Amino acid sequence: MDLKIAVLPGDGIGPEISAQGVAVMRAVCEKFGHNVSFQDALCGATAIEQVGDPFPEETFQICQESDAVLFSAVGDPKFDNDPTAKVRPEQGLLAMRKKLGLFANIRPVQTFACLVHKSPLKPELVEGADFICIRELTGGMYFGEKYEDSDKAYDTNMYTRNEVERILKVGFEYARKRRHHLTVVDKANVLASSRLWRRVAQEMEPDFPDVRVDYMYVDNAAMRMIQEPTFFDVMVTENTFGDILTDEGSVISGSMGLLPSASTGTGTPVFEPIHGSWPQAKGKNIANPLAQILSVAMLFEYFDLKAEGKLVRDAVDASLEANVRTPEIQIAGGAAYGTKEVGKWIVDYIRKK
Ligand code: IPM
Ligand code: MN
Repeated sequence: MDLKIAVLPGDGIGPEISAQGVAVMRAVCEKFGHNVSFQDALCGATAIEQVGDPFPEETFQICQESDAVLFSAVGDPKFDNDPTAKVRPEQGLLAMRKKLGLFANIRPVQTFACLVHKSPLKPELVEGADFICIRELTGGMYFGEKYEDSDKAYDTNMYTRNEVERILKVGFEYARKRRHHLTVVDKANVLASSRLWRRVAQEMEPDFPDVRVDYMYVDNAAMRMIQEPTFFDVMVTENTFGDILTDEGSVISGSMGLLPSASTGTGTPVFEPIHGSWPQAKGKNIANPLAQILSVAMLFEYFDLKAEGKLVRDAVDASLEANVRTPEIQIAGGAAYGTKEVGKWIVDYIRKK
C-alpha cells in the first residue's frame, strides 16, 4: 500500500515523540512492504513564531494531500500566561479539526496489566478497564458563537441534529464492534443541547437493537469512571464533556503518556496522543513516546492494516514487559530509559520479528 503521511510535530515534547512515531511507522512499513512517505508541516506555537499562523495554509494543503496526519502536540506557556494574546497555538489544532471535518475523536482508555500499580485507583477497580470515549470534535462550545469584553463573556453550546446524529452513529457502530454497550453522556437535566442529544439517541435506538444504551449525566459519569471504570464499553459525548472526561480517563491507565487517539470525519484522518506538549520536559528526552507510537497502531488499523497495527501493539507491550520504560512508569530500581531509547527498542523489536 502507498501511504503519504503529513507529520505535524508541533511544540514542546512534540518533535521528540514525533520522531519515534515516524521511526516505528517506517520500520513496520519496511517489514510489510508498504511504500510510505513523510512530509513535515508546521503547526502550533512553532508555526506562530515562524509564519504568524498556528495552522498555516501550507500545512492545511499538505494535510489535504496526505492519506493521514501524524500529529504530536501543541501549546506553549508563553501563551498560557498571556490572556491578551491574539493568536494561540491551540487555535491551530482547532482549525485543523474544523478544516479537515474531523468530527469524531476516538479515545480508547485501556489499562496495561503490568502498570496497574501506577494507577491512582485501587488495582481491583482498574483491572480489565477497557473502554472507548467517542468525543464530538467540531461542534459545541469550542466552535459556537462567542463574546468577550471586560465585564461579560459567553460561549454557545450549539448542536444541530445532523451533528448529533453522525457522531451518535459512530458510537452505535463502535458498540456493535465491541461489547454492545453504549453510554450516552450528557447533562439533559439542565442543558437544552443535551436534551437534543438524548432525543436523537432515543430515536436511533431501534436501528441498533443489538446495542444496550444507557444515558448518564456527565457529573455522574465522571464519578462512575473512577468508581467502576469497567462499567463502560463505548461512551459518546459532546466536545467539552469529552475533553474533560478523557483527561480523567487517561490517568486511570497509570500515565497520560500511554493513550493514543484518532480523529476522523470527512477529511484526512489525524492520529495523535491525547496528552499535551509538556513544555517543561522539552529537549530532556524523558517524554513517553508510547501514546504517539500507539497512534501509529491506530493509523494502521484505520486503513484495515490489522497485522501492522498488532505488531506495533505487541512491540509496545513487549517494551513494557522488558521494563524499557520512561521514568514516570519505571518500576522502583529499574533503569529509566529516554524517549529515544524506548523508541529505538521498539523499532529493533519490530525489525527482529
Ligand atoms: C485535547 C486538547 C485540546 C482540546 C486543546 C489543546 C485545544 O486538550 O485535544 O484534548 O481542548 O481539545
Ligand atoms: Mn484535552
